[in-house]
Amino acid sequence: MNSIRLRSLPHLLLAFVLTFAGIQQASAQDAAAVKKEGVAPGATAAATPATAAAPAAGGGDAAAIAAGDALFKGNCAQCHAVNEQVVGPALAGITKRRPISWILPWVKNSSKVVASGDDYAVALFNKFNKQQMPSFALSDKEVTSIVAYITSQEGAAAAPAGGVTAGNAAAADGQAAAGGADAGAGKYVDILLIVLVVVLIVLVVTLVIIGNLMKDVLRGRKDLDGRDIEILEQRFDWGKFYRSPVLRGIVGVVFALVLLYEGVQSVMAVGLNQGYQPTQPIAFSHKLHAGTNQINCAYCHTSVYKSKSANIPSANICMNCHSQVKTESPEIKKIYRAIERKQPIQWVRIHNLPDLAYFNHSQHTQVAGLQCQTCHGPIQNMEVVYQYSALTMGWCINCHREMPLNTKDNKYYDNLVKLHDSKNAGAPFTVSSNGGTECSKCHY
Ligand code: HEC
Ligand code: HEC
Ligand code: HEC
Ligand code: HEC
Ligand code: HEC
Ligand code: HEC
Repeated sequence: MNSIRLRSLPHLLLAFVLTFAGIQQASAQDAAAVKKEGVAPGATAAATPATAAAPAAGGGDAAAIAAGDALFKGNCAQCHAVNEQVVGPALAGITKRRPISWILPWVKNSSKVVASGDDYAVALFNKFNKQQMPSFALSDKEVTSIVAYITSQEGAAAAPAGGVTAGNAAAADGQAAAGGADAGAGKYVDILLIVLVVVLIVLVVTLVIIGNLMKDVLRGRKDLDGRDIEILEQRFDWGKFYRSPVLRGIVGVVFALVLLYEGVQSVMAVGLNQGYQPTQPIAFSHKLHAGTNQINCAYCHTSVYKSKSANIPSANICMNCHSQVKTESPEIKKIYRAIERKQPIQWVRIHNLPDLAYFNHSQHTQVAGLQCQTCHGPIQNMEVVYQYSALTMGWCINCHREMPLNTKDNKYYDNLVKLHDSKNAGAPFTVSSNGGTECSKCHY
């Protein structure tokens, strides 16, 4: 009977350890993914219900948040980020600053709200140098889903820099506290899991001990017949268990399903490099140059508003400053060495569409007026650049379906706008209504 205890206990322990390790790994991956998006670590799935429960968040269920995510990236991200000021204010805490009954008309037509003399709107408009936010032909449901998405992304380290009310500071404080609570919740779950595992182990050990004690008591009794003794001395037959066709069937099916799932996932991911972040030959930091020192993107990427591709700057451009700045730094000496050897710096390329697709920067930056961050993410905060967007065909098409054309002060579009409005008055004049989803625009 000792052998039962010795054999089954290690199996059980192993099972617990494996389960626990699995859970730990899954939550660590969550945290890593969330961190990359710029949200405070620890604000994992557990935090979502808490934030979504905030008033006027519009029932922030996962579907609404996902829809809001796409709408936000397609329409708002060129000017807004959740936790930092871009062109417009940071939108974190917007439900605390303004009721949803204010947000809906604002997003649909902000100039109307300003014209109506609304104190908050006028003050905000003046604070942002009378820069007009465009009107959006979005439904109430779509705007609420954007708000739900914003609420779900709140709580990063940066304090919101928007807003004008006195309550703003208080809102920011509340948010920081909420962020702290989220991080606390993550730790709390970990501790709970450890306690649960310990309790389970103690339970199993107790049960095994009780079982053995009862057997010892039974063995002491004389009135047992042959069948009772057989049951008493019965051992768990692992061999039979392993050979059982039912078990083999279940394991086989699970194995096949996992294999199928992994297979489909890896086929879908062919050519997908989202998040790709190679180490560069020189520790060049966009955070230091484009962020801290506010050097304009086009100072280095000189062709980005003029031509199809954005160039990577040559060493000469670096020398405009580094002939004077930090000349003793070993990283800067690498630039000098490249120039002496008359060889370009071997930067590793990050973004790379396949040759079958045509993409033109000037069409998007100069003509459409899109910000670099819409597609490349918060480059000005990156020490090392990574590929922020998926760069799949679906990514291009989704934006083309939703993004209104920038027709202002562009004579080329005047007649087209008239034609469009005479036929579908009210419908937004998107890239796709101008043929931007036809195959031949991107493949030829
Ligand atoms: C072209 C830039 C631009 C785009 C695109 C844009 N906004 Fe704005 N937004 C602004 C500016 C600028 C302000 C500040 C007010 C002003 O100057 O009119 C603002 C203000 C706001 C405010 C008020 C913020 C506060 O702190 O009170 C909200 C809410 C808002 N925008 C939501 C949105 C949503 C939702 C979208 C996408 C559907 C969007 N914006 C798209 C530029 C933009
Ligand atoms: C001082 C010069 C400089 C400035 C300013 C600058 N960059 Fe860069 N950028 C570089 C260099 C050098 C590289 C190549 C090395 C690297 O990837 O870090 C690069 C790489 C990139 C890449 C990746 C290219 C690839 O390989 O796919 C993107 C995207 C990018 N920059 C966008 C921006 C944006 C957006 C801004 C403005 C917010 C900006 N850059 C400002 C010098 C600059
Ligand atoms: C417009 C001016 C300007 C240009 C152009 C410029 N830099 Fe810089 N760079 C700076 C400044 C300012 C610093 C920060 C110096 C400091 O920390 O005191 C810096 C710092 C650096 C550092 C960090 C050095 C260290 O050891 O701390 C590296 C590496 C660097 N730059 C590489 C480059 C490369 C590569 C290019 C060309 C693609 C480039 N820079 C172009 C102004 C510039
Ligand atoms: C509409 C989305 C979009 C916008 C806006 C955008 N880019 Fe890009 N960028 C891309 C795509 C897609 C690629 C990959 C192009 C390729 O491989 O042919 C890319 C590639 C790059 C590269 C690598 C060199 C190249 O051309 O392949 C640099 C550098 C770059 N972008 C800088 C910028 C800067 C700076 C801005 C803002 C002035 C900007 N981008 C705006 C989508 C965008
Ligand atoms: C964030 C939104 C956005 C993304 C992402 C985007 N585009 Fe665009 N694209 C636009 C806008 C806006 C225009 C319209 C520019 C104009 O006014 O002509 C446009 C225009 C174009 C055009 C010209 C269409 C025409 O009617 O002549 C092509 C081609 C194009 N995009 C290709 C691409 C490709 C390829 C990708 C993906 C790698 C992509 N775009 C991703 C917003 C986007
Ligand atoms: C807005 C630009 C755009 C339009 C419009 C567009 N595509 Fe694409 N397409 C792309 C891009 C970008 C890729 C490369 C995506 C990648 O590497 O994952 C691509 C890839 C493909 C591929 C190769 C798929 C692969 O995995 O290699 C095929 C086939 C394709 N497109 C067919 C079409 C057809 C058919 C249409 C018209 C119904 C169309 N595309 C319209 C941008 C576009």
